[in-house]
Order: sequence, then C-alpha cells, then structure tokens
Amino acid sequence: MPALSHRMRHDKSILALALSSKDIFAGTQGGEILVYSLDTYELRRTIEAHKGSVLGLCLQKDQNLLFSSATDPIVNVWHTDSFLRLYSLWSTYDVGDIFCVAYSSYHHTVYLGAQNTSIQWYDLKEKDNRPRPPLTSHPLERKDKFFDSFGPGGVQTPRPQDRERRDAVGGQGLEIDRQDIKQFAHFGYVYCMLLGHGILPDRPSEEILVSGGGDGRIMLWQIESSGGKIREICTLEDGRDEGESILSLVQEGSFLYSGRLDGEINVWDLETRQLVRSLKANVGDVLTLSLGGGYLFAGGVLGNVQKFNQHYETVSTFKAHSGLILASAFTAANGKPTFVTGGNDSTVVIWDVQDCVGSTSKAKRNNNDLMVESLTQFVSFRTVSSLPKYRADCRRGASFLRSVFQNFGAATEMLNTTKPYNPIVFAKFRGNPATAASRKKILFYGHYDVIPAENEQRGWRYDPFTLTGEGGYLYGRGISDNKGPIMAAIYAAHELANEQSLSSDIIFLIEGEEESGSRGFAEAIKEKKELIGDVDWILLANSYWLNDHVPCLTYGLRGVIHATVQVESEHDDLHSGVDGSAWLDEPLKDLVSLLSKLNGVKGRVQIPGFYDPILPLTDDERQLYDEITETLLRSNPELGDRDELTQSLMRRWREASLTIHRFHTSGPDNSTIIPRLARASLSMRLVPNQESAVIAEQLQRFLRNEFAKLSTANKLKVTIDHQAEPWLGDYNNEIFNTLESAIMSVWGPTLGRRRSSVHGLKADPFRLTPSTSNRPTPATSSTLANGSTEADDEPLDPTVVARKPLYIREGGSIPSIRFLEKEFGAPAAHLPCGQASDHAHLDNERLRLVNLYNSKMIFKKVFSELPTK
Ligand code: BES
Repeated sequence: MPALSHRMRHDKSILALALSSKDIFAGTQGGEILVYSLDTYELRRTIEAHKGSVLGLCLQKDQNLLFSSATDPIVNVWHTDSFLRLYSLWSTYDVGDIFCVAYSSYHHTVYLGAQNTSIQWYDLKEKDNRPRPPLTSHPLERKDKFFDSFGPGGVQTPRPQDRERRDAVGGQGLEIDRQDIKQFAHFGYVYCMLLGHGILPDRPSEEILVSGGGDGRIMLWQIESSGGKIREICTLEDGRDEGESILSLVQEGSFLYSGRLDGEINVWDLETRQLVRSLKANVGDVLTLSLGGGYLFAGGVLGNVQKFNQHYETVSTFKAHSGLILASAFTAANGKPTFVTGGNDSTVVIWDVQDCVGSTSKAKRNNNDLMVESLTQFVSFRTVSSLPKYRADCRRGASFLRSVFQNFGAATEMLNTTKPYNPIVFAKFRGNPATAASRKKILFYGHYDVIPAENEQRGWRYDPFTLTGEGGYLYGRGISDNKGPIMAAIYAAHELANEQSLSSDIIFLIEGEEESGSRGFAEAIKEKKELIGDVDWILLANSYWLNDHVPCLTYGLRGVIHATVQVESEHDDLHSGVDGSAWLDEPLKDLVSLLSKLNGVKGRVQIPGFYDPILPLTDDERQLYDEITETLLRSNPELGDRDELTQSLMRRWREASLTIHRFHTSGPDNSTIIPRLARASLSMRLVPNQESAVIAEQLQRFLRNEFAKLSTANKLKVTIDHQAEPWLGDYNNEIFNTLESAIMSVWGPTLGRRRSSVHGLKADPFRLTPSTSNRPTPATSSTLANGSTEADDEPLDPTVVARKPLYIREGGSIPSIRFLEKEFGAPAAHLPCGQASDHAHLDNERLRLVNLYNSKMIFKKVFSELPTK
C-alpha cells in the first residue's frame, strides 16, 4: 500500500503530469504548468503556459524539452532548465482541444492528437526552412465564427471575460503544414498517444506512434523516415464492434495497456497484436495509467488508485484524491521510485512506493528520505513535558531517540533527572581514531519535549502528531522546535561517520524539559560531567530566521524569570453583598495594586537598579541592526519606517521586559465572590549582563516592600518557578565563522525578488529574444535564499555571489545555553534552521524540507571544518 508522502495544493484541477529526473511538471485547468522540485517539493516555477486548460504533457527523451498541449489549441515547447518557451505550434485551422502530445526524439517530430479526430505533426528539423507564419494565422488571432461575426442589427455577442488569463510569450511560432495532418485518424477524439519501441518484429528499434481514441480503438502508426508522416499499420482489434473511449495508454516491453471509460483495462500483446486480458478496475472510469517498478497503477473517477502486480493481481486500492484522478506518472529517477497523481481536487500527490524497483530488490533509500522517516516516528511521540499525562510518551520518545543513536553506532546513555522530570538522551559519535589527540569535541544541545497540541479548537489542519507533508513543508508538533533540527544534526554526524570523515567527537545532549524551564537539567549534567567529557564548542539549533528568505545566525537570547505572586487572606471566599465593605482587605484588590507598581509608563520596570547592568549599544552592534533593517526592508518595503523597525528589534532583543500572563482566583467563577486567594503568573525577559539570580532577588524584595505599604491583613507569597540566564555569543569567533561559510556555501547565491521572466519577456511573440532587462541582478540587492517558493529562480548570473547570513538576536530564551557555556568553559553558537513562518508553539507548526536538508548539510560542514580550539 503506497503511503502518501507529500501533497501540493493548487487552486485549479491538475490535468496532466510529466516527471523529469529533478522536476514534477503539472498542467492545470488554468493554463499553467507548475514546476515542483522532485527533491524538496518546492514550487520552482509557475509557467503561464496556455490560454486554455493544459491537457497533455510529455518530455523529450533526454528531458531537455517539455511539450504541452491545451484547449487554446496550441502545442508549446519549453526548455526544461530556463522554462522559456522555445516554440509554439498550431494547426492551420481550428482543431478543437488538443488532448495529447508525443515527441519522437529520433524523428525530431511533435505529434498532437485533437478533438477534431486528427493527428497532426511538425518536424522541428524543418522549423527554419518553413515560411514564417503570419500573425493572423495564430489561433488566438483568428476570427471566431460566433463572437466575431455580426448578428441581426449588427450586434456582436460579447466575449466571456477570461481576458486576464495571460498567454505565454517568447519562442518561435510554427504553423503545421497542411500536408502534415492525418484527418480522421480515429472516429472520435484522439485522447492519448505514445511512441512505442520494439513493436515491429523485424525492426525493433523503430519508433511507432500508438494512439487511442474516443472510438474505442487503438491504432498503430508507422513513421516515415523524413518529414514525420504517419502511415496506418493496424488497429488493435478486441472483437467488439464498438468499445468505450480509450483515455490512456502505457507500454512495457511487448505489452500495451489501455485504460477505458467503462473501467476496463486491456492488456495487449504487441507481438501478436492480440488482446491478452481485460481487467475490471474498481476505480470507475479509468482516466490514467502509469507503469513503474513492475507495477501498473490505474487512477479513475472515484478518486482511487488500483495497483496491479505483474500477474495482474490487485496489490492494493487506495484513495488518492477527493475527486477524479486525472493524471499520473511514475519515475525511478535517482534510485527513488516515485508515483505522482493529480486530480480535480486541485492537488498533486507524491506517493511513497519503495517496493517498486523491480519486484525483488528493495530501493536503497536516500538519507534525506530516511531522515524524514525517522522524523515521522519522532513526531508521533507526544513528548509534552508540561502535562503529566504525557510522562510515559516522553519516556517512549526519549527511548526512540536513543535507538536512533544506537542504530547509527553512537555510544549512548539515558541520563536521569530529578524525579519526575524527563530524562536527557546522551550520545557520542566518536571521531576518527587517527585524530584522537587533536580531535575537537562539539556538543550539540537540543530538546525532544514539545509544547502541548491538544487541538481542542481544531486549529490544526492535520493531526499534530502525524507528520504530514504539504507544499514543500512538513507539518507536526515539534517539527521545527526542536525535533527537525535535532534529526538533521544526528544525520549529519551519522553521514560523516559512514563516510569515515568524522574528524571530531560529536556529543549530543537532548533534554526533555526545555519547554518547562529545563527542570533538572543542570543537576543531571553536573553529575554526569565525567561521562560527557571535555567540550570545545557548543552548538544548538532552536530558533528561526527573521523572515522566510534570508538565512540567519543567532548570537543572543534573552533570559527569563517565571514567578508566581500570591495574596491570601485568612477568611473564606465571601459574598460581596453579604460581606463586602470598604474595610475588608480583598486579596485580588491587593494583588492588582501590588502588580500595578511593577510597571510605569510604557512598561518601564520600576524595580530599583533593574536596568543598571544592561550594556550600552556598541558601534558594531548598531551596524548589525542597520544591516538587518536594510535587508528586511529590501525584501518587504511595506514593513514601514527604518528607525521604527530598528527600535522594534532592539526592544525585543536587547531590552528587558515584564509580562503579567494570567490571574487565578479561588471560589466559584461568578461576579458575587470575593476570593480568599488571588494569584498571578508573571515573567521577566532579561538581557545580557542582567543576572537572573540577582533580578529574582530584586523582584522579591520590591514586591515585599510594596506589599508592606498596602498595610493589609493579607499574606504575600512570591515563588520563582524557573529562571534562565540571558546569552550573548561572540559572533567573531571560529564557530560563528565556520557556520557563516557553511551557510554561504549550502544556501548559495541568492537572487533579487522579481516576477517570472517568462511572462516578463516583451518580445516578438514568435521569436526567442530574451531581453537583457530580465537577467538577474547581482546579489547586492539579494534577498532570497535558494528554494524560494516564488517563481523567481531564473538561471544564475555568474556575478551573483553568496550573501552572508544575517546576525540576529532573539527575544526568546533557552535556559541551558549559558549554563552549558559556564559548565564546560566552551563558547556556544546558535544556527536557526526554521523560517519566521514556522509557527513554533502555535497550531500548524511546520518546517520547510529545504531548510531541513540544508541544515543537515550545514551541520556536516561545521562538524568537519570547525578548527580545534
Ligand atoms: N525555541 C524556544 C526559544 C526561542 C524562541 C528561541 C524564539 C528563539 C526564538 C524555546 O523552545 C522556548 O520557547 N523557550 C521558552 C523558555 C522558557 C520555558 C524557560 C521561552 O522562551 O519562553
């Protein structure tokens, strides 16, 4: 049973599919060809390809050219690297919809099958010898019998308003010669075609055109050696007078499979030209067939795919789309068998078909696929540290993580924390023994616990604990914070060890209480210091880029103190009417008065000496802020005023703050109660040089003093729940330098953000004349990391240089960093793996696949290139 691996959503039906070794091409009802990366599922390009729905797609054998046919009725020829249109060809008269297109690489001839029952062709070798077609011959320029003629009284019927749909531009216009037409090739629409081999027993290498039509027939056509002309060889006869329409055809060796409108799949022997079998499909009308890895896949109107083995037995039937399945394709490119379907639910779906590589051997899965598989398991554990009901799930998650390390040959141990807190997973990949003396020791810190995702409000689109791939992203609780980055680091160390090029020791400390203030972490680490050993560098990956485009490095985090302030009276909960009086000391009133003393105007914290330790802004730092604002404004000028943006970043990154989170009161929740107890939770974000222990003490003292001034009979209790020191890394040190060059080499050159050049080209519509103004600009104005979801990745200009990551700080806190730095006397650096839109801690948390893959590569580089201290 194939497993759904990834889904890409569009806003119109997917009618045609073609797969190259690196891309998925999907033709849509809106006339676009969507180009997705087969590796990362990113939308690489949206080609505005046709004025009408794209009905057929096919690739040249060497995959340099893509052919698309549509209802315009035009066949366009695209270059698969530049996505530019090279040729656009049409018939001399209206042929109706062009359902299918096939290309003979041998004859350099394009064949099209049309609604008017004809097959027509164009020999591309002849394109420059033929006369240039006049503009008026183009189907979109022709007079329309209905709309362009005058009715009674000279009235013209208004055209429907689909004018905004742009037609593709560029390329050479080619008109099919009147002789290159086979009229009435079928007694019905020509729905499907393929170029078959090994069909003529005496000339097995000769290409034969096979067509299927609305007349229920399959025709074989011989191609003449010059000009591409076709001559009928025969019709495949099934003994029926009239069969249902043939909608799809696939060939495998001497067998031809045809899918029919009545839900039948016919198996033909091309040597004897006889019908061998008829399979009754349970997918309804068979709209698409694909072959691969020894299996036949049939998709139909019921939205199901039926998978047959070589004995024509049904292996599985699975629901693939909520509507009709209109297109499918299979590839085993890069040793990775992939089945893709498209439907009128406007989605393209990637199916994991790992058993499809020949019936016996299993495909060797690449490490990125295995990493996603490991993550699917990792995310399935509900490792929520803050809810006691998930304690067992946390343990299971930790054991799973340990087993990943074990399988990769790392030495690993489970480090217990104070009961009942979650254990820490310790693991060590030992570097090459030859480098034992000089080997550096890198500590990777992360956390396997996650924020709750109870999904009571149904805000998640998918189950938060079932990793789901969509639109180039993986969705699931903890995928970005912090399970994805952890898995990327583990696979990086594993790959280096496997390649025998791990020259350093990589130590992993993955805790299970970070989201709850790293309870028990420090004590457990102190106890196990001997086991952990020396550490030269600390690396973590638990934050995000500033936007979705520019890679960043984080060099600062705020600290945090979480505190509970409680005011309690000696009396019970009372009734405000029966008992209320001005003389009664109400706990909630006291609490509110007390808390009101904490902040002055604009949230200024009133605790004496609170701001004193904060370091002044240096010139270097000021420059970093300027660079950041400039980059942010370049990619999104709507972000507003430059100074305001700088101020807003500084307020969140280098200024301290105080937040009151919530109140709790005793007694029933109604408006007559005077609660006997009132409690508030508050937190303070601290910045470098503010010591959390000192501030915690100042907070308690301030509250006690202010409370005393209230001269109330109630009692005050202040508890510090947990605290984390702020962290400021040295962004000029070697680990940051190594990370910087790794980021630059992995994310590579970045480009300015512009619309697609395909419809930006202003040129003679029939000539390929790329305008220089559409060349990419050098990276001085660069804003995008490769893998952008927009259709902007034009061919790279060699002058484009890799841009440096942005050095940023963060407002959030990670309690263990400062502790680890102090404990091991080693500097830390922080690589943000995720994008700003990752939704960490929110519904629909996600991580982009490119970010996951590239983070793994960055870790690999850092693990192997970081110099010894
Ligand atoms: N990964 C976050 C911290 C973070 C958030 C870093 C945004 C950088 C940018 C972490 O999981 C977290 O939420 N930490 C808590 C710590 C607290 C529970 C002690 C936080 O910041 O509130």
